[in-house]
Amino acid sequence: MIFSYFCRMETLSNSVKELRHRYIEMLCEIYDKEEANALLMILLEHHFGISRVALALNPDMLLSDTECLTLQSSIRQLTASRPIQYVIGKTEFCGLEFEVDENVLIPRPETEELVTIVSSQAKTLAGAVDVLDIGTGSGCIAVSLARLIEGCRVTAIDISGNALDVARRNAARNGASVNFINADILSDPALPRRFDIIVSNPPYVCESERRDMRANVLDFEPPTALFVSDDDPLVFYRHIIDFARTHLKPHGTVWFEVNEHLGAETAELCRRHGFGDSAVMKDLFGKDRYVKAAR
Ligand SMILES: C[S@@+](CC[C@H](N)C(=O)[O-])C[C@H]1O[C@@H](n2cnc3c(N)ncnc32)[C@H](O)[C@@H]1O
Repeated sequence: MIFSYFCRMETLSNSVKELRHRYIEMLCEIYDKEEANALLMILLEHHFGISRVALALNPDMLLSDTECLTLQSSIRQLTASRPIQYVIGKTEFCGLEFEVDENVLIPRPETEELVTIVSSQAKTLAGAVDVLDIGTGSGCIAVSLARLIEGCRVTAIDISGNALDVARRNAARNGASVNFINADILSDPALPRRFDIIVSNPPYVCESERRDMRANVLDFEPPTALFVSDDDPLVFYRHIIDFARTHLKPHGTVWFEVNEHLGAETAELCRRHGFGDSAVMKDLFGKDRYVKAAR
């Protein structure tokens, strides 16, 4: 079906109006109409700077043959379930632009909320605030906090060297100063500094939850960023809270994003590790999504 559409393209016009009609029909095989329309507009804007308004003002706009091929290639990727953020190589997070590719998780809206909560907390602290982001991926948390908290010193670690390359480029493109370190939090690394704030959105999706996930996540996002075994779903939280015992300043706090089904267990784990002042917080959708831990 999709193949025959592309073959027919050769003989059809290059008018954006016609291409749009055709491509939306193709995208509707896996997206609903509104989403398909939005995706196409993102591609037109990204590749050719054509905005919705420009298209409305000039509905008979034409694309060159080369431009048609570019658009066709992106549509092919979308119909193969590749997320739009990877197709265009970027996304927005906390009002900043981040490069993303298959080495990093696509930052989620829940994580933006975590950044907002943590930066409000940081602004109540006096002096230069030391922040550590564990499992930084694209660097979205670390870079946003570095931009939001004046005079803070941000360190970020990840086990993936490829993710750190992306994160470093994101710090540079957003004018943020972040000290990136390649480290495995599960081998209890020792860092030569203590922190006021430790924040982490570690892998927390149980293997058994795979079956509920869409192909665009499962086939494209890095599994090491997402999954933990059903036998030990809190493995990252246990290691991080243990690490916090020796790397947090006396009045420091730890902030986690958590699996919505494991908020209470995570807070309890923090209490058992000496963080008596631990609580679960809900996200904008009313789901248990964050745990704050303090001594
Ligand atoms: C859920 S992603 C979070 C990425 C980013 N912080 C965000 O919020 O979008 C988890 C990250 O943890 C990293 N990670 C996985 N195992 C790790 C380990 N043992 N030590 C350090 N980082 C790890 C992954 O590479 C991934 O970038």
